[in-house]
Amino acid sequence: GTTLRDLAEAKGSYFGTALTQSNLNSSTITAIAGAQFDVVTPGNEMKWDTTEPSAGNFNFGPGDQIVSFAKAHSMRVRGHTLVWHSQLPSWVGNLPANQVQAAMENHVTTEATHYKGQVYSWDVVNEPFNEDGTLRADAFYNAMGTGYIADALRTAHAADPNAKLYLNDYNIEGLGAKSDAMYQLVSSLKQQGVPIDGVGFESHFIVGQVPGSLKANIQRFTALGVNVAITELDDRMPVPASAANLAQQATDYAYVVNSCLAVAGCVGVSQWGVGDPDSWIPDFFSGYGAATMYDANYQPKAAYNAVVTALGGT
Ligand code: G3I
Repeated sequence: GTTLRDLAEAKGSYFGTALTQSNLNSSTITAIAGAQFDVVTPGNEMKWDTTEPSAGNFNFGPGDQIVSFAKAHSMRVRGHTLVWHSQLPSWVGNLPANQVQAAMENHVTTEATHYKGQVYSWDVVNEPFNEDGTLRADAFYNAMGTGYIADALRTAHAADPNAKLYLNDYNIEGLGAKSDAMYQLVSSLKQQGVPIDGVGFESHFIVGQVPGSLKANIQRFTALGVNVAITELDDRMPVPASAANLAQQATDYAYVVNSCLAVAGCVGVSQWGVGDPDSWIPDFFSGYGAATMYDANYQPKAAYNAVVTALGGT
């Protein structure tokens, strides 16, 4: 059949989506997710505030539900995320600096061990950079300095040696200060022999503003010997959506998929959510929406058809 997952798999790639626990209650969303996508990223369920809300008390129930849905539909899981400044329970930020490393290592070890063999990859560290390319002064950086990233990667690798380990960030899709900083970090980690398999380009785009350097940027990362994944693709526009913007969105989506397909080390594309009604965009960017391939009624948009064509379908 002509589904995104079948077409992507025929090209040695995948097409993923994010799903939350509440999405699993919608038969409309789950029907599309299971039919069209072959990779799932839990939207919130594997984040620290859910998985270890207080020190040493772990809750994997919500994440396990996403994993069972994935198994039932032969989808792989992108684990998201082990170490991140956001959705981090306050107890971590309140720890004395000399206790942060042990807390981080225990969190990474416990969660990666729980999901060992069940996740295809981990976003081990999420969004480490500021826009100017300096590292974010979060609880981990403040306690451990730059080395927290290598430490988190080594700890995750020890817990689940087969999981592909990623660093994931936004505004690193094109060439620029922030992606240069990620490039230097990955280069240095590789030189030190730190386990790292890939870089996630989140790809939260604005219609008509997808960076023209996307493909060149994917190429320079893969030349370091790591994979690239498009991890959270969406393409927002002012709502109500105009016909011109929906047409531009189709061009943008095809451009992103083609850029990934053109580079051997770009392993696949994931959209952040299934359709416009379950997208995070309207809650976070007032006046914007219509950011996905499925409309308000979960009908495929022009962007969907453009992706089918890019994947070689008709
Ligand atoms: O669970 C609480 C609920 O108890 C409360 O009543 C409600 C009221 O605000 O909030 C609920 O939590 C929300 C949570 O999503 C679960 O729905 C948070 O407020 C809300 O901030 C949170 O947003 C998530 C966001 O990450 C937080 O940074 C989005 O769903 C999620 O899609 C988004 O995903 C991130 C990726 O992890 C990393 N990259 C960017 C991407 C988009 O922001």
